[in-house]
Amino acid sequence: MNCCAADNFFSAAHAKRDLRRYRRFGPLPTARKILRALGNVHNRSFIDVGAGIGAVTHGTLLLGAKHVTVVDASQAYLQSLLNEARRQKHADRIDTYYGDFVEIASTLSKADVITMDRVICCYENVASLLDQACTRATWRICMSFPRRAWWSRGAIWAFNLVQRVRQHAFRVYYHDPDYVDQSLADNGFVPVQFDKSVLWSVRLYERQ
Ligand SMILES: C[S@@+](CC[C@H](N)C(=O)[O-])C[C@H]1O[C@@H](n2cnc3c(N)ncnc32)[C@H](O)[C@@H]1O
Repeated sequence: MNCCAADNFFSAAHAKRDLRRYRRFGPLPTARKILRALGNVHNRSFIDVGAGIGAVTHGTLLLGAKHVTVVDASQAYLQSLLNEARRQKHADRIDTYYGDFVEIASTLSKADVITMDRVICCYENVASLLDQACTRATWRICMSFPRRAWWSRGAIWAFNLVQRVRQHAFRVYYHDPDYVDQSLADNGFVPVQFDKSVLWSVRLYERQ
């Protein structure tokens, strides 16, 4: 994702609103489902790509993860994530990187698990994103993305129409779940758990 587009769309106001909601109501349903799917994360290392304000990052650390490397293309989100990490007293177990994960992945240490909650739908070149995730994850990858249903494709279409009318550069993309499965399979990861909500699919993949 272009960092300029991310910074414009995932702005300070956006981050402030998300953090306020997180502090009031806790993680959103997709983050809850990811944390549930991951199960025992004790002593595991993570890379949380597109972490936002860090619902999954904070959740895994509260559940005993050893360390989380956070990568996000929005500076405002990274700042909010760090503020919340200091409040929850686990900032010392987080490293943050600003940028496009596809571009900086090769500079990062590998981790047991990669998480991407509602991220691949913000990135057009999903093949590269998934390839890079597979090279950095030694054990598991857990993701949420729009499920295969006419209404989720319709919601994406309507969102992009509004973005075009407003002349905003940020777009959302629908990636076929079979394509996602096949890309991970080509890299040696198989799906081991599925969950879904009205709009989202949550999938856990494990290295064979
Ligand atoms: C819809 S938000 C989701 C945030 C959070 N995971 C959540 O579910 O609340 C998508 C996030 O992914 C980030 N993002 C998308 N593609 C990225 C990439 N290639 N590298 C780094 N961050 C990316 C955006 O900057 C944004 O923070």
